[in-house]
Amino acid sequence: QDNRFQAIIAHAKEYGFVFPSSEIYDGLSAVYDYGPWGSELKKNIRDYWWKSMTQLHENIVGVDAAIFMHPTTWKASGHVDNFSDPMIDNKDSNKRYRVDHLIEAHAEKLALEGKKEEEYALLKAMDELIAKDDFTGLKQLIDDHKIVCTVSGTSNWTDIRQFNLMFKTEFGAIASDSPDDNIVYLRPETAQGIFVNFLNVQKTARMKIPFGIAQTGKAFRNEIVARQFIFRMREFEQMEMQFFVRPGTEGDWYKYWKQARLDWHLSLGIPADKYRYHDHVKLAHYAKEACDIEFEFPIGFKEVEGIHSRSDFDLTQHQLYSRKKQQYFDNEIDHATGKPYGNYVPYVIETSIGLDRMFLLILSHAYDEETITKEDGSSDSRVVLKIPPKLAPVKLAILPLLKKDGLPELARQLMDDCKQDFRCFYEEKDAIGKRYRRQDAIGTPFCVTIDHQTKEDGTVTIRERDSMQQRRIKLTDVRQEINRFM
Ligand code: GAP
Repeated sequence: QDNRFQAIIAHAKEYGFVFPSSEIYDGLSAVYDYGPWGSELKKNIRDYWWKSMTQLHENIVGVDAAIFMHPTTWKASGHVDNFSDPMIDNKDSNKRYRVDHLIEAHAEKLALEGKKEEEYALLKAMDELIAKDDFTGLKQLIDDHKIVCTVSGTSNWTDIRQFNLMFKTEFGAIASDSPDDNIVYLRPETAQGIFVNFLNVQKTARMKIPFGIAQTGKAFRNEIVARQFIFRMREFEQMEMQFFVRPGTEGDWYKYWKQARLDWHLSLGIPADKYRYHDHVKLAHYAKEACDIEFEFPIGFKEVEGIHSRSDFDLTQHQLYSRKKQQYFDNEIDHATGKPYGNYVPYVIETSIGLDRMFLLILSHAYDEETITKEDGSSDSRVVLKIPPKLAPVKLAILPLLKKDGLPELARQLMDDCKQDFRCFYEEKDAIGKRYRRQDAIGTPFCVTIDHQTKEDGTVTIRERDSMQQRRIKLTDVRQEINRFM
């Protein structure tokens, strides 16, 4: 499985999906850039989410809030006090380490000594303890391995303390006596940009409860475990939706969104047994009820999306800190009292999915190494990305069989006809088999070949990526044929 994961990472780089960020400088840990096909795939996933959330739900509208927010936002949301990971100090050198960095450095030493299995066991134990917030266990792990500080050479450690995951930066150039005055944070979740705009959106879009606000955008976390390609990044993108409901109805809406979000995943044609729910026992500081949708990645079942019942926590906190009412007037009649429900702070159900993680999900699901038996009995192999056609970076490759006899001209006409509707790729170089393989490797669901017969009867060969089956259709039907899958 680990080999499969490594193969996917290598393929993603070789075929222009994902590159390490600033690679010429040896990269930046847990930061990645999307290449030509990666940026198309990422955009297609974002668009698919956006359409299903907003266009297909009359009661959900979008926003695009700024990454920088007033620093008090993060005090109110609880992130300044609660959004943290463990660190430790050496008592002799006073040098401070992030617990994961310290353990990772030791693991690297083990690897250099050829103790590969010990290295793996140590990293695995660390990941598990961090996931459980088990600081006593982590301290024990450091003691058991007699990990020393490189400055003092001793293993005289303090207890483990918390390290905040938010990135800080300075805002403007105002000189101030207090260095904290111009600190701003890079948002660690997009959700708060929705909460602080709750009334702006409700009033301007004339929304009535229940209604939702959707947003996609970058979020930043100074993650401590960051060794899993784009699974855990320090700069990533979220697609979040906050659904505002009348207090007392949150249980039903939580159930509704838990199902609706799984249905969205299944609508892409990915088998249901690849997914499972994980109900949270330990809840985030804001949550009343929460679950993850987990997917079977090559590194095991892992979270791809969270559904959280956040009660009125965030809006109440913002009301408290901003001293501005965050209430909604509900004029619907409560049948129990015969009077309108009146003023209240709405409750919130949130659905939150990482775009990069969804990208990795699609890549993991799509990646396939196949052995093919040819007509003459010999065998061949291919790497194919079986990306759902709706999400594929390129929908149609247009391939004239020869570079002459008017075939390129016909192919160009088809390209002009189709490119308004979907992304096409034109190629006339190399043998047709080689060209097919290249399209398989980037997940192009359809290839059309223009040959001499096209000139005679106006038909082309259309080849389907997954089955590799070919059939002849009319040149004039190609556009419509591909559009059926979009
Ligand atoms: N507003 C709620 C929230 O942010 P979360 O469970 O911390 O909840 C939601 O994050 C989703 O964001 C996760 O399910 C995951 O897909 C994605 N995500 C979180 N941290 C990430 C990281 N460091 N790298 C990539 N994706 C991440």
